[in-house]
Formats: sequence, structure tokens, C-alpha cells
Amino acid sequence: MSSDTLTVIDNRTGASYELPIVQGTVKAMDLRRIKTGDEDFGLMSFDPGLTNTASSRSSITYIDGEKGILRYRGYPIEQLAAKSTYLETAYLVIFGELPTADHLARWQHDISRHSLLHTNIQHLIETFRFNAHPMSVFISAIASLSTLYPDARQVTDPVNRRLQVERMIAKAATIAAFTYRHNQGWPFIYPDDGLSFIGNFLKMMFRMTEVEYVPNPVLERALNILWILHADHEQNCGTNAMRVIGSSQADPYSALAGAAAALYGPLHGAANEAVLRMLEQIGRPENVPAFLAKVKNGEGERLMGFGHRIYKNYDPRCRIIKQTAEEVFQVTGRNPLLDVALELERIALQDDYFISRKLYPNVDFYSGLIYRAMNLPASMFTVMFAVPRTCGWVAHWMEMVGDPEQKISRPRQIYTGSEMRGYVPMEQRG
Ligand code: CMC
Repeated sequence: MSSDTLTVIDNRTGASYELPIVQGTVKAMDLRRIKTGDEDFGLMSFDPGLTNTASSRSSITYIDGEKGILRYRGYPIEQLAAKSTYLETAYLVIFGELPTADHLARWQHDISRHSLLHTNIQHLIETFRFNAHPMSVFISAIASLSTLYPDARQVTDPVNRRLQVERMIAKAATIAAFTYRHNQGWPFIYPDDGLSFIGNFLKMMFRMTEVEYVPNPVLERALNILWILHADHEQNCGTNAMRVIGSSQADPYSALAGAAAALYGPLHGAANEAVLRMLEQIGRPENVPAFLAKVKNGEGERLMGFGHRIYKNYDPRCRIIKQTAEEVFQVTGRNPLLDVALELERIALQDDYFISRKLYPNVDFYSGLIYRAMNLPASMFTVMFAVPRTCGWVAHWMEMVGDPEQKISRPRQIYTGSEMRGYVPMEQRG
């Protein structure tokens, strides 16, 4: 008998089955062989939230959650954060290799060429109320791109796919900046080819009346680091949404809007916004013990920015962001809420409730403090997450569309409803 197998004995029938084990997994479809008789549908696995189900093979991002390791295409996140730029990392994540100088120059040129927005999208953004949540505006504007680029439906054409990828990476940043400026009531600032991708983004966001806008190099570097760290995180909720929608061969803008919508929830990308509101609510370090007591008693909300489905150790991104926050504060001035965050972390990491559940600070715990230092409202934080995560979403979409093993995503269910019953006329209903 091969050792790379799993022997299963079905105690209902006494039958024994041998299931192959490949790369630490058994195929869910192999379970279907396990039946009580010819009429039986066969065994399924039940996994709400897909906590123990691999839905694809992927060569993009490696995470070891127990050890706190994160790598893109094999490169440790610490090295990329220290040495790369967001756009170079995006190339790596999407195409699999670091670019040569020529490839990087062409990539930068192609992205910058697509960074303008069609005036229809500008007008669309202007139609939203000034106080509409920026993520709602962002999601709507991303979805609307499919009205302008119907060629994006040719998802099986690799040349066409690359064109859409360039558009998505470039336009997500411009849409984010225009969303912010509309929210503030400021006129739009168009993209500037003379700046780096991040420098241009800062200009589109923050330029007021300066004749020449010069991005602050510390803030530009900090944003590069934050966006490198947010570029991908394998099969998270948003990426899963991108893959699920893309699996029907819908155009990638529709899939991207769906991925961004998944990110919008407070258990996912909107946790950074929730963290800041939580820190403001706690107010001062001396209020931390009382707040944590409520979290542990289940009287209040969760400790936002803590815990992760995959990391059962310190999130490696959080360590880098914490250091980056200190550097940003040297330029912008120290935000007193940092002391509240540090006190929360200090006490929680010594508390048995958090230790026993392996709850550590995650990527969202300190990132909001940097965005706040840049004067951004909390409602913009998730948009600032969505722009760089666009890189991961399109990388997974490209991988999925080119993977012959992938099928339209369509899970099973365990039906728990009524047996068949007859239609009841209105006058006989109780
Ligand atoms: N505060 C207090 N208790 C928590 C927390 C928290 N932040 N996170 C998990 N727990 C407890 C939870 O109550 C449960 O306890 P018990 O076993 O007694 O019922 C246990 O830890 C396991 O929690 P879970 O909900 O089963 O874990 P999960 O893997 O389904 O959830 C999570 C992961 C990230 C949704 C969760 O940790 C959470 O809600 N964290 C706060 C929100 C947050 O920071 N989200 C950002 C995640 S990282 C970036 C991203 O994904 O976008």
C-alpha cells in the first residue's frame, strides 16, 4: 500500500477506502466515492468559512502563520519593504519575477499611461453625496469601469488580460484620490507623469495651491512600505471573492468591485478604520485595562486589529508598520493615540485570554495611525488598503484564469429546509 494515502473505514457500511494524499490534501471529490448504497449521493466535506479547504494551487504568496512568515514569490516581505517600491513589487506579484530595468521602465510607463480617468467616471464620482462612504464610492467607480472597457470580457485572451491589469492598477489609485477629493469638496488633480507612482498619488490626494507639488520623501517612502505590505495576502476574503466572481468569466472590473466589497467589512479591510475609532473611544492609556476587560467579558466589541485566521504569531507586517509609524511621526508629530495602541498591545500580549487564543496585532493595528498622521479621515483607510490590494486581486485573477484545473466556483450545501409541501392559498394561511 502506498504510504501517501489515507485509509478511511465507513462505520455505516464497514467498507474501507484508500484516498490519495497529494501536497498534504485529500481531494474533496474523492470523498464522494464513500456511499452507503447506489442511491446515496456520497460524502461531502462541511467547511463554513472554508477554514480548512484549499480552493486553488497558487505560486504567488507564501504564509506560515505559526512562524509569522510572509513571502511574495519567495521574497521575504521584510526585504521587499526595505528595498523595493510598490510598483516594482506589484510587477513581481503579478508576473512572478522581479523586473529587469527595461521591464520596470516599461511597466511604469504603461501604468502611468493608464492613470487618467474617463470623464464619465469623474462625473459619476461627483454624483455621490459629499459624505458618502469613500469605500462605497470606490466600489461603484471600479465596477463602472466595465461600462467603458467592454473588451475586458475577453478574459481568455492573454494580451487583453495584460491591458486590463495595467488599467486596474493605474485607475484604482486615481479613483481613490478622486474619491477623497470629492469627499473633501476639493477639485480633482490629474495624474502627473513626472512623479513616481506613489509621489503622483500623494499629489492627486493632497495638492492644494502649490505651483509645484513636491511629495515629502518620508511620507512617500512610508506609503511605499505600507502598499508593499498590503499588496497580497493569498486566499483572504477579498481575494476569494475575486476568484469566485472571476471563475464565471465575468469581466475583471466586476470581479474587482466584488473583491473590494468583501474588503469593506470590519472583520476584513475595514478593521483599520474600526481600530482608529476604538483608539479614539479608549482615549487614554489608563483606560486600556477597563476596555480589555469588556472585550474579554464579551460586553464590548472585539479588540480590533487583533487576531487573524492564518497568523497564530505576530503578523510580520505589523512589526514593519509599527517601525514605519515612528518614522512618519518624526515628520508629522506624534499622535497620542499611539500610546493607547502601545498600551493595548503591551497588556494584551501578557493576558491569558489573548495568549491562549494566539491573538496578536495584525496589519490593521498600526496602519490607521499612519494614515491619520497624513490627515486622512478614518473612512478613507479601507480605500488606502484597497488600492495596493488591487495588485494581489489581479495577480490571483490572472493565475486563476490561466489555471486549467479551475472551474466555476459553486459550493454544495446541506439542505435544512422543509420537506416538499403544497402551496397554501392566502385565506388558509395562519
Ligand atoms: N478580540 C477578542 N477576541 C477575539 C478576537 C479579537 N480581535 N479575535 C478572535 N477572538 C476570539 C474569538 O472570540 C474566539 O474566542 P472563543 O474561542 O472563546 O469563542 C477565538 O478568538 C477565535 O476567533 P474566531 O472568530 O473563531 O477566529 P477567526 O479566524 O474566524 O477570525 C478574525 C479571525 C480576524 C476575523 C478575528 O480575529 C477578528 O474578528 N479580529 C478583529 C478584526 C480584525 O482585526 N480584522 C482584520 C484581520 S487582518 C486584515 C484583513 O484580513 O483584512
